[in-house]
Amino acid sequence: MSEHILVERRGAIQVIRMNRPDKKNALTRAMYQAMSQALVEGDADPAIRVHVFFGVPGAFSAGNDLHDFMAIATGGEGGLEVWNFLAALAGSQKPIVSGVDGIAVGIGTTINLHCDLTFATPRTLFRTPFVDLGLVPEAGSSLLVPSIAGRQQAFALLGLGEGFSAERAKDAGLIYAVVGEDRLEAAVLEAAAFVAAKPPEALKIARDLIVGPRDAVMARIREEGEHFQARLKSDEARAALMAFMTRKKG
Ligand code: COA
Repeated sequence: MSEHILVERRGAIQVIRMNRPDKKNALTRAMYQAMSQALVEGDADPAIRVHVFFGVPGAFSAGNDLHDFMAIATGGEGGLEVWNFLAALAGSQKPIVSGVDGIAVGIGTTINLHCDLTFATPRTLFRTPFVDLGLVPEAGSSLLVPSIAGRQQAFALLGLGEGFSAERAKDAGLIYAVVGEDRLEAAVLEAAAFVAAKPPEALKIARDLIVGPRDAVMARIREEGEHFQARLKSDEARAALMAFMTRKKG
């Protein structure tokens, strides 16, 4: 378990909260591990009908911890935690609702591609600077974003690393709704309660039909992952990671 992931059960709703505010919810291996475990256990528990993801005020997540990326870039082992998490997320048997406020970088954006309803606040900025880091899209995003938003919006988000406001993300079909910061948690929990009240068997079949076969997404996650692992050891990635580590904050 990780002290930075808080898992709370509210009736039929399982709330998974990323809680590492001093690092803007940068995700460590232990955090992925804890989130995978929560998803798998929640899926297996008939009392749980819906998962919810929250971050902290102002930071859903700043993405993978770049120190962990640097460790791999300089010859260390990556571990399987992130891949187990992506498998649990993309394979989730229960609906997922997310509430995003503020920073949503890298996997902080792509987690939401696997959610059924995402609410985001006006101050949210979705950004996936994979290419600027010498890396490639992950979490099946190279398959999911073009299919949701079209090739050109996908290229802007995933290729160019353009920031997407909550409004733009909603217009592109990437999220469900934009709500004010003061309403975010209530709106997400109300939606989750609404989902949880549906007949679970019918909802599961409906959701499986809507999500479609998982095999293609899982295969793309693996394919992206192979490139990602190789790219982490590239000169381009090492230089970008070093620039972050040695940046001067002003
Ligand atoms: N990995 C590790 N640490 C991170 C991090 C990350 N992805 N994102 C932020 N942090 C840390 C910062 O180093 C800083 O730590 P410090 O206080 O010990 O110096 C702390 O979190 C706060 O971040 P800071 O940069 O001061 O906040 P900000 O509001 O000015 O900027 C971001 C926030 C997210 C825009 C900026 O931190 C950033 O660009 N982070 C990297 C995001 C990224 O590239 N993620 C990977 C995508 S694949």
